[in-house]
Amino acid sequence: MDTASIDALIGLARETVGTAVDAAALANAKARFLGRDGELTRRMKDLGKATPEERAALGKRLNEVKQAIESFVVAREAELARALLETRLAQEAIDVTLPGRGSARGGLHPITLTIERVEAIFRSIGFDVADGPEIEEDFYNFTALNTPENHPARSMHDTFYVEGGLLLRTHTSPMQIRYARMHQPPIRVIAPGKTYRVDSDATHSPMFHQVEGLWVEENISLTDLKNVYADFVHRFFERDDIDVRFRPSYFPFTEPSAEIDMRFADGPLAGRWLEVCGAGQVHPSVIRNIGLDPERYTGFAFGSGVERLAMLRYGVGDLRLFYENDLRFLQQFAG
Ligand code: FA5
Ligand code: MG
Repeated sequence: MDTASIDALIGLARETVGTAVDAAALANAKARFLGRDGELTRRMKDLGKATPEERAALGKRLNEVKQAIESFVVAREAELARALLETRLAQEAIDVTLPGRGSARGGLHPITLTIERVEAIFRSIGFDVADGPEIEEDFYNFTALNTPENHPARSMHDTFYVEGGLLLRTHTSPMQIRYARMHQPPIRVIAPGKTYRVDSDATHSPMFHQVEGLWVEENISLTDLKNVYADFVHRFFERDDIDVRFRPSYFPFTEPSAEIDMRFADGPLAGRWLEVCGAGQVHPSVIRNIGLDPERYTGFAFGSGVERLAMLRYGVGDLRLFYENDLRFLQQFAG
């Protein structure tokens, strides 16, 4: 075996290994020279045919060639890995000079905004703000409000009952009892929150919000209700062209009772009376149920529909829009 052909072998191996385009081609190139049947391997096997004098020098030379080819493979491997990495980096590069997508700012829901507005107005005239359970006892929702079992007024509310004799409160009025039992007169409180009824159309939703109001003190009467509510309406809507009417009504826990309707000349509800509130003078039985003497203490209570207030203030004709979570609708209220 002559030196020239061994040199040629190195040259061929350098060329073949050095131009392998990927890992598979490189593995093939390696096998072609160093594999079990590879060109170098075959020459090594032929070593036995050489004369003993030639054998030492030739063996040494073939080993050098083997190491050389192995180093070509290692070098090519590194090159291929680097090239792969560079391609990946180029593909995944982030152009930091591109304009950002921007992050939209959230906003408060119109019902939340309405509740906050109602709270601010009543706080400013000395009302406390209270919060109570949505899963309520029958006692607070009905019985303590002068609506014992089998009272026909119970059918005015299509109640959702839950397990264990509990129910989803049908109004915020149970807060009258809960709050008044914990506080001494003068009692001046509003209690906004969620309420539930089996009810659904453009002006009724199965979950809706009310804000309860209660003022109990000596010498508080329906006149005070009219004044307080008129002042509230004026400040809430910030306009004077609203028709407000007190319509005689019935609630077991007030006597006399009224419902308050409103009408605007413009907007999608133009010219239509919308019932916004139930109200009245607190019934003597309720005054007794909160542990006070009805001969001495009187008061008024009201329960306003928050969605109704929001519909009128924002000119929304269908209350269900508040709960569809359509961003095009909601974004109009984001402050
Ligand atoms: C009551 O719930 C009484 N608790 C109100 C009250 C409080 C009277 C204190 C006297 C003293 P009413 O069922 O009318 O009353 O409901 C009060 C208001 O809640 C209604 O005027 C209306 O604005 C609103 N409302 C009632 N049901 C729904 C509903 N399903 N969806 C949206 N709003 C409603
Ligand atoms: Mg009503």
